[in-house]
Amino acid sequence: MSKLPIINVPDAVLKQVSDPVGQVNDIVRKQMDDMLETMYDAPGIGLAANQVAITNRVLVMDIDYRDDENGAQKNPICMANPEIIWKSEDISVMEEGCLSIPGQFAEVKRPASVTVKYLDYDGKEAELTAEGLLSHCVQHEIDHLDGVLFVDYLSKLKRDMMIKRVIKMNKGQEAL
Ligand code: NI
Repeated sequence: MSKLPIINVPDAVLKQVSDPVGQVNDIVRKQMDDMLETMYDAPGIGLAANQVAITNRVLVMDIDYRDDENGAQKNPICMANPEIIWKSEDISVMEEGCLSIPGQFAEVKRPASVTVKYLDYDGKEAELTAEGLLSHCVQHEIDHLDGVLFVDYLSKLKRDMMIKRVIKMNKGQEAL
């Protein structure tokens, strides 16, 4: 496994609509492994392929990850070609952040619960019904595959402010 660099806003790859994968083969599985390693290292609870500059419809998540005195606990979920096939009418509001927009957080409104159809790590068709944090996470990651960021749900003023902060922060790092 190898860790990949995470792309930050305002890189154009984050606005790109990604292409479906033909099948989950060893190359895609290696990509999923690399993305999980990158996500755990960040650390984050979700990562979409275009955040590591790969424009296919692959995402990884783990909302249960812990690494403390009791050892590491992992519950990774890998998805290829995820598709929302049902959403609840109930709405949930939760604070979201994004590894591509580091240090910025805002409340985002989404359907409280969704069912997602996808291909799993073994290439088998699977379904997941998610609520709470996992529901926000999977919708946030699927948005990435369509070139949509959580800041796109905010006012232009707030969005521009957050993106400017990231640009400024990254310039500061380059100067060191
Ligand atoms: Ni994100």
